[in-house]
Amino acid sequence: MKHVSIAIDGPAGAGKSTVAKITAERLGFQYIDTGAMYRAYTLKVLNNGIDPTDERMVLTLLESTNIDFRDNRIILDGAAVDDEIREGSITRNVSYIASYKAVREKMVSLQQEMSKRKSVVMDGRDITTVVLPFADFKFFVTATAEERGRRRYLELLENGVEGITLEDTIADIKRRDTFDSTREESPLTRTDDSYLVDTTHMTIEEAVEHIISIVRNSKIMADESENQLE
Ligand code: DC
Repeated sequence: MKHVSIAIDGPAGAGKSTVAKITAERLGFQYIDTGAMYRAYTLKVLNNGIDPTDERMVLTLLESTNIDFRDNRIILDGAAVDDEIREGSITRNVSYIASYKAVREKMVSLQQEMSKRKSVVMDGRDITTVVLPFADFKFFVTATAEERGRRRYLELLENGVEGITLEDTIADIKRRDTFDSTREESPLTRTDDSYLVDTTHMTIEEAVEHIISIVRNSKIMADESENQLE
């Protein structure tokens, strides 16, 4: 049976990962959070005392690194690292790591392998353009920088983080947007064949419903269920 692939790209804070994860659960597909893979490698770099801006040193660990998903958990060299990769130190440094060509090549090849094994919902920045350019479905999930900053600020407050302002959080989101969309290697862009999902005035549930209705109403899914009945 052919595996179905759903590729989702978009900037930080658009609700993309939450939407992708719920969509995958409802469709019974595997969810692959590619940002988590870049974060996991950043964790390894920092744990080894390597300066993330030193590309040559960063690359020395690449070959011996194994990153995979098991039961929706991210596994770095055999150990689950879901919590560690969400630390502030990782968020601050991951953009450097994700900008190196050799790191991207390794992650892209792992991601392409994963998509061959199962039907997937994969989210990131280069999924619709580089990783799965021939995905069955492509979505670009976004929201205004102000709204994304506001969501991130509320999240930080909820987690008890102190000493931050809404203005700083919005500025940080804009800084990351610029970095991710102007970098040389696979910058974040919306392809012509991606459905645009602007979540500025949408709840997570509405965004999920929107994506699922497009997927379910397509011929590809009709063909899939016919194949499954055969
Ligand atoms: O979505 P996130 O915040 O977990 O992503 C972490 C970083 O990794 C962010 O700087 C963008 C980068 N990234 C990327 O370059 N390509 C991807 N496919 C996924 C994430």
